[in-house]
Amino acid sequence: MAIKLNWGILGAGNISGQFVHDLLLNNTLKESGIEHVVVSIGSSSKAKAKVFAEENKITLENNLGVTPVFESYDELYANPNVNAVYIGTPHPYHKEQVEASLKGGKHVICEKPFTINSKEAQELFDLAKKKNLFLMEAVWTRFFPSIKLLRKYLYEDKVIGDIHRLKCDFSFKVDFETTPTTHRLRDIKLGGGAILDVGIYVITYARILLDDKVGKNHTPFEVKSLVTLDPVDGVDYNTNLLFKYNNGKQAVLSCGFYVDGPQPFIRLEGTKGYANLSSPNPACPKQWKITFADGSKPIEYEDKSGYNGFIYEANAMAEDIAAGRIENAILPWDETLLTMGIMDDVRKEAGLVYPQEK
Ligand SMILES: NC(=O)c1ccc[n+]([C@@H]2O[C@H](COP(=O)([O-])OP(=O)(O)OC[C@H]3O[C@@H](n4cnc5c(N)ncnc54)[C@H](OP(=O)(O)O)[C@@H]3O)[C@@H](O)[C@H]2O)c1
Repeated sequence: MAIKLNWGILGAGNISGQFVHDLLLNNTLKESGIEHVVVSIGSSSKAKAKVFAEENKITLENNLGVTPVFESYDELYANPNVNAVYIGTPHPYHKEQVEASLKGGKHVICEKPFTINSKEAQELFDLAKKKNLFLMEAVWTRFFPSIKLLRKYLYEDKVIGDIHRLKCDFSFKVDFETTPTTHRLRDIKLGGGAILDVGIYVITYARILLDDKVGKNHTPFEVKSLVTLDPVDGVDYNTNLLFKYNNGKQAVLSCGFYVDGPQPFIRLEGTKGYANLSSPNPACPKQWKITFADGSKPIEYEDKSGYNGFIYEANAMAEDIAAGRIENAILPWDETLLTMGIMDDVRKEAGLVYPQEK
């Protein structure tokens, strides 16, 4: 029998639409053996939820015969037909929304950053454990088949020899003329700044491409950071981090909103060559190339699946739930806590405190 999740989508916005696209494409392609049904769209406005369903082309055909209901957030938490919730709202709302979803008896995947700090994250993981419900941060990057394959070449086949160094940047130029100060990227009340929005990805790459262990078992490392807070908005738009693992491997990481970052956005260097990752959006590692120092034929990969890339984390969640697991092995709770803890430290050193933390 097919594994099936009945989804409640919380927040009828940008990223929720991209997530839903992948669920519907999965149902159309029928390749995975997993069914994802959008049962409910929870929004501050039912009219907005309806427009969301229309704009994202949810039909009886691609949604397996189901027309979603348009609900308030509270109605979604209480909806007995929903067994999995996807949270796609700005960061400061994640804590209360994950909590309410778990209290409603739902399994949950919540957009990155999971919460605004590690204290909040710990409280949610404690609750998921108590409720025996699945919970995961939606760091989709970790679940791409491209990453699994790249790590096989790097760690099992060791094709570029000993890896010593990673350089990774995720920056994009925000138009400060047209982006209002109330936008979630700028507003300190909405968790604004680069570290929580895109810094999480450069940290993720330093974790998944320089260490073959996760969570509690991770290879020990130290982090140093330099942060420039914007004089107008008071959040970080220019942040640099250095990682040094105790085996000597290092990462040079940067993120920001003042300038566009480079392509390729990653260069991972070993003694016999290097790997480059490129993608218009560095969060989705859809394309990479391994180049060899001795001139051997490069190895190249491109994800041409048609998915945005959210389906990989959604399918991983479905498989975990079907197997009775409440935590995912690729992104266990301790790994989210580790990443959140790094961002806590970077912000603390820079004096970036969100109002919710005061
Ligand atoms: N995985 C990725 O690559 C990726 C990419 C972009 C964003 N994200 C993450 O996804 C989350 C949402 O980002 P987004 O770009 O989708 O945001 P968005 O479009 O600005 O907002 C998403 C939804 O959140 C609710 N919302 C927005 N502003 C709010 C406010 N001030 N108060 C209360 N609710 C508000 C609204 O839902 P309703 O009006 O429908 O209730 C809105 O439709 C963020 O945490 C972000 O980090 C992840």
